Amino acid sequence: MIITGASGFLGYHLLRAAAQQYEVYALYNQKPLHYAQATPLHCDITNYIQLGNYFEDIEPDAVIHAAAMADANYCQQHKAESYAANVDASKNIAGLCSDYKIPLVYTSTDLVFDGKQGMYTEADGKNPLSIYGEHKSIAEDEVLHIYPNATVARLPMMFGYADASDANYLQKFIAQIKRGETVSLFNDEYRSVGGAASIAKGIVHVLGRVEGVVHIAGKERLSRYQFGAKAAKAFGLNEAYLSSCSQKDVSMAAPRPADVSLNIEKALALGYNPLNVDDELNLVAQSSFYE
Ligand SMILES: NC(=O)c1ccc[n+]([C@@H]2O[C@H](COP(=O)([O-])OP(=O)(O)OC[C@H]3O[C@@H](n4cnc5c(N)ncnc54)[C@H](OP(=O)(O)O)[C@@H]3O)[C@@H](O)[C@H]2O)c1
Repeated sequence: MIITGASGFLGYHLLRAAAQQYEVYALYNQKPLHYAQATPLHCDITNYIQLGNYFEDIEPDAVIHAAAMADANYCQQHKAESYAANVDASKNIAGLCSDYKIPLVYTSTDLVFDGKQGMYTEADGKNPLSIYGEHKSIAEDEVLHIYPNATVARLPMMFGYADASDANYLQKFIAQIKRGETVSLFNDEYRSVGGAASIAKGIVHVLGRVEGVVHIAGKERLSRYQFGAKAAKAFGLNEAYLSSCSQKDVSMAAPRPADVSLNIEKALALGYNPLNVDDELNLVAQSSFYE
């Protein structure tokens, strides 16, 4: 199997979930990775020739495509770069998987929705507000157009161990409170927040089982503030350092939807079985990683 974006936050968890069942080739770009259970390979996914050569050499039996330009604010200001990495490269990967007739999961985002409704099903209409959401939405459509057998897995805001990504918000959140700083969190932005370890297992589980879109997210619809309170509790932090604020109090480059919570009935019926947020937070808090 090839995992793209193996050096990213989700990639860390995908490697561990997939290595139990597959021989994994782990593609990274700028951050070399070291994981004994996988073969690391450098590849810029916008380099179609290099990617095609890897497919020829490896003859993979499946692909999980988790490489992306995933910073919404950066994408908003660098549209061409976002399009190349998020759309063009995904089209190319779908074409290669179609040629090789192998299962593909393309990892997408809840940000393809405008957030006016909440608890979206796979059948609900898309209307992304940001360039990142728009490019991920175009990529979803292109992937399924090029390769109708592919799986599009829409994912929520995730938390978890993150030794591959120093930009992980849970680490920043914990560090800020430990420094005695107050953390402001939106009380009016809702997501089906999910633990990355559970979600990675879910992605590996649906590989080859779904043609089209499936939502793989947490079971609970939480505001960022509600999630912050749960995280503070799990890590034994003083909740007095949490303050709640509204989306409209903060100006950011990329517009933010209010409620992009996801209905996950379809995935649950397929056997996806995520931990609840408290249980997965407790597991993360028990690890030495966040000390
Ligand atoms: N994190 C979330 O909460 C969240 C929520 C919803 C959906 N998602 C989706 O989940 C997937 C993974 O996101 P993430 O949070 O793991 O992102 P991330 O931590 O920012 O990692 C992005 C990964 O993509 C790779 N990458 C970027 N540009 C590349 C290029 N040109 N060539 C090759 N690799 C490239 C990076 O490689 P290097 O670091 O080695 O350069 C890294 O491995 C994405 O599809 C994202 O849209 C994430």
